[in-house]
Amino acid sequence: MKIALGSDHAGLPLKKEIIKHLESKGIEIKDFGTLTEDSCDYPDYALAVAEEVAAKNFDFGILVCGTGIGISIAANKVPGVRAALCGDTFSAHACREHNDANILALGQRVVGAGLALDIVEAFLGAKYEGGRHGKRVDKISQIEKKYNK
Ligand code: RB5
Repeated sequence: MKIALGSDHAGLPLKKEIIKHLESKGIEIKDFGTLTEDSCDYPDYALAVAEEVAAKNFDFGILVCGTGIGISIAANKVPGVRAALCGDTFSAHACREHNDANILALGQRVVGAGLALDIVEAFLGAKYEGGRHGKRVDKISQIEKKYNK
């Protein structure tokens, strides 16, 4: 499994915790920045990770900003990306099972590191169920096509 990660300055410490956790499990990762605590703009890192995930160069993406909101909104502008902002483990597995989410977004100012790592585990451990959910996910793609995203 290959995971692309990105954050702004407000998500940097949590992203580092997640990277340490994934690496300890032998999961291949690439960090698309930011790499310093200097103030920066979350759309830049959302775009970098979202493009890689949409191109299927990585299995999943994980994005972190202060709330997880801005970085997930930005990532969802890239066609083929279904970024889910999760603050609990139920949403983290349900967004994989029902929505085929391919990016997990987290808010460093919202969740503690312990919960965030459980959320990451729930997300990566769950599988898309397809079936009745397929037609709904297809309708999301049709919305993208309608607006030429
Ligand atoms: C940065 O201060 C903060 O606005 C950003 O990390 C994020 O929370 C935006 O949605």
